[in-house]
Amino acid sequence: MALDLFSPTTLGAISLKNRIVMAPLTRNRAGEGGVPQDLNATYYSQRASAGLIVTEATPISPMGHGYPALPGIYTDAQVAGWRKVTDAVHAKGGKIVLQLWHVGRISHPSLLPNNAQPVAPSAIKPAGQAFTYQGLVDYVEPRALDASELPGIVADFVHATQCALTAGFDGVEIHAANGYLLDQFLRDGTNKRTDNYGGSIENRARFLLEVTKAVVDTAGSDKVGIRISPVNPFNDMQDGNPQALFNYVANALNQFNLAYLHAVEGGIHGGGDSEPFNFDEMRKLFKGSYMANLAYDKARGNEAIASGHANVIAYGVPYIGNPDLVERYKTNAVLNQADDATFYGGSEKGYTDYPFLNQ
Ligand code: PHB
Repeated sequence: MALDLFSPTTLGAISLKNRIVMAPLTRNRAGEGGVPQDLNATYYSQRASAGLIVTEATPISPMGHGYPALPGIYTDAQVAGWRKVTDAVHAKGGKIVLQLWHVGRISHPSLLPNNAQPVAPSAIKPAGQAFTYQGLVDYVEPRALDASELPGIVADFVHATQCALTAGFDGVEIHAANGYLLDQFLRDGTNKRTDNYGGSIENRARFLLEVTKAVVDTAGSDKVGIRISPVNPFNDMQDGNPQALFNYVANALNQFNLAYLHAVEGGIHGGGDSEPFNFDEMRKLFKGSYMANLAYDKARGNEAIASGHANVIAYGVPYIGNPDLVERYKTNAVLNQADDATFYGGSEKGYTDYPFLNQ
């Protein structure tokens, strides 16, 4: 029988009861101090029938924040809050990994300690506006990181990984996508450095590979995944040759024997693709498991698995509105429509109140 979305599998050390993954989704509903609440535990545990949950992107340090009401993964209180989430998901037989995030230039002084200037590989202001507690505000020019500061950020990734393991997560996913710090180093539209971390593809990939090595040394390679988005223009991103860049990255990541490589196969937030890209070519260079994401439905997910393109499929928006997405796909049931007015911020409305099939 051909493999499909309902076939069990393993991603490194993590065993999945099916190949339907809940994609990382920013929901801006953490408590004071970036501490996950009972409401967040309810939300994630409602979705525990997924083969794997990837949490919302979670800042690894105070300088990693770029939006209101994000959870963090660097204080004891945050670890205790996340422990409620992992316990609730595990009690229902689910698996959950935490997504490790540093936003880089996609922030604003009002969201950072002591009104700090956001940091980035190069001092290039993004087009557009930051979401702050005071509403939308123009982005500011970020400060270019000195090479001497990079080991401190690697140490923050390590500390956050230790916090995630203490909180009971099954693994971690390094966020190297969507125009945030690690992606800002990768792509040449945001990286104009003239040191060992800029210029050639090898140099632009150096920081990601250093972070990956440190996280792998902390968690074990079979508990670490990475998310990339080779052609996503969101957050004012571009690259002169994304195929060469991300083929190199996929190949270089083979040295780590990771749990999986997760790719956003296009542009998010309706942005479209900036450049043509052959995802299958990149995928074939990567020797491990591949998680495909973006605008898949049940039929396309099954096709991607049967053809060998993907091992598992990550679903984002469908998981906002359908806590029982697995059951709905299994029974060909109608899906609830997600309400985009309640995607970001608020309380249980549009978060934990979407009906299950049997309700
Ligand atoms: C968002 O808040 O729009 C967002 C956050 C993290 C991502 C992508 C989008 O990786």
